[in-house]
Amino acid sequence: MIYYFSGTGNSKWVAETLADRTHDSAVKIADISKEENILIKKDSVFGLVFPVYAWNCPEIVSEFLKRVNLEKGAYSYAVCTCGEEAGLVMSVLKARIGICSGFSVVMPNNYIVAGDVDDEDEALKKVREADRLLDSIALSINVREKGRFDVNKGKIAVIKTFAASHFFNKYARSAKPFTTSYDCIGCGLCESVCPTQNIVLADGMPFWDDKCQQCFACIHRCPERAIDYGKFTKKKGRYYFNYTQEQIKGDQNV
Ligand SMILES: Cc1cc2nc3c(=O)[nH]c(=O)nc-3n(C[C@H](O)[C@H](O)[C@H](O)COP(=O)(O)O)c2cc1C
Repeated sequence: MIYYFSGTGNSKWVAETLADRTHDSAVKIADISKEENILIKKDSVFGLVFPVYAWNCPEIVSEFLKRVNLEKGAYSYAVCTCGEEAGLVMSVLKARIGICSGFSVVMPNNYIVAGDVDDEDEALKKVREADRLLDSIALSINVREKGRFDVNKGKIAVIKTFAASHFFNKYARSAKPFTTSYDCIGCGLCESVCPTQNIVLADGMPFWDDKCQQCFACIHRCPERAIDYGKFTKKKGRYYFNYTQEQIKGDQNV
């Protein structure tokens, strides 16, 4: 089974593509009850797919892993998606649950507090390269390869993963900066796409609770561009995974 978390769809696509290429199935972590413990029996496969947040796991993934018990002899792997670099997140997972293999897959960036989204050409290029990389990752999973860690760690990865990630979770994840402009039409899409059910609509306007992961699905999917995170996101682009197979395969099929 492949367990995944995704805000804007990149990791969902990676999880579903891998499920298809490894004859497995993908399930959303957010749909699993917080009371449920997951036992991965020997000879079974545990896959984990998630977006990198501040060079580490999103909190929902870290919390989920506390409930996962891998029996000796189970095969486990993790795949993170990132806009650029993943830091030492796979080393963290190796130490925590002893994953056998780990991979990073560069996908279009959705973090628009500090940076911006990729332009259309760059985003599509990343998705096409990711699609090819997933073939090789699937092959590795299918033969139960162990000890393969293909991760784009980036520079000063130790500081990023251990210090910046701590700072992010402690100080930079508040839901308070979310704002909604008068352009909001009360369609409720933000409420329905929030993977952690952290948004409720009252009088046709969204309100955020404080268990926000900061996945930004609400900002990126809003059809009216009515949602922002303080002033950081006002002049930034919007992104969510919306590619067809034809776009991904491109001229490979010609
Ligand atoms: C809160 C937050 C933090 C992020 N931190 C990183 C990071 O440390 N390194 C990186 O390369 N990308 C980072 N990103 C970009 C995402 O990891 C990347 O776009 C990912 O593919 C999004 O996956 P999703 O569409 O499944 O949500 C971050 C995105 C968000 C929302």
